Amino acid sequence: MRPEISDKKLSLPGAEVNWQTRRNNMKAVCVNCHEQQWVDNFYVQYDSLIDLYHQKFAEPGLELYKLAKPLMNPVQFANKLDWTWYELWHHEGRRARHGASMMGPDYTHWHGTYEIAKHFYTKMVPELEELVQKGRTSGDPAKVAAAEALAKKLAEVLNHANHTWYLNKMDPAEKAEREHRQQEFQKRYAK
Ligand code: HEC
Repeated sequence: MRPEISDKKLSLPGAEVNWQTRRNNMKAVCVNCHEQQWVDNFYVQYDSLIDLYHQKFAEPGLELYKLAKPLMNPVQFANKLDWTWYELWHHEGRRARHGASMMGPDYTHWHGTYEIAKHFYTKMVPELEELVQKGRTSGDPAKVAAAEALAKKLAEVLNHANHTWYLNKMDPAEKAEREHRQQEFQKRYAK
């Protein structure tokens, strides 16, 4: 959420200062020690991480979570999926985003994107599949319909280029490129 929006919710004077102004003010501090290009490059890297997080996990994850709701216990945090989803954005997701903003590579990667991916594929997806299964066999027409809608969205998300590796459907050109890079890396750093 943009800072001026959260400041507005809290009735803080910062509601009047948009994020672009804040970023420019911050950059004006950075250029006391770094040249402009260095500072701009930092923001390219930072924004790219945030975009990746949103496009790959946060946006599809939220859609899936909303579609799973009718199949869940309505009490929030009474379901495994409530915890999984909460942590994907507020635990490891927050660490990845803040790690990138504060130049902490270990937080960005090992405590961040690594855990986001691990938990998305090994917790969230299986939990959604379990809810689909239960809904389909519930005998309740509303739940059967909700399960079908969730299954459809899940298939759509996993068939996006960001996730096809999981279905073993990665584009062969990308797969070959990755293998090539891997060999290059090993050749370069092997003793
Ligand atoms: C007071 C001077 C100063 C200011 C202000 C400053 N930096 Fe730095 N920055 C440094 C120094 C010195 C280093 C090198 C530290 C080191 O390598 O130990 C550095 C390192 C960095 C690095 C490299 C980090 C890494 O992991 O190698 C980046 C990127 C960077 N600064 C970006 C920024 C940005 C963006 C801002 C503004 C938000 C900023 N800096 C403000 C002095 C400053």
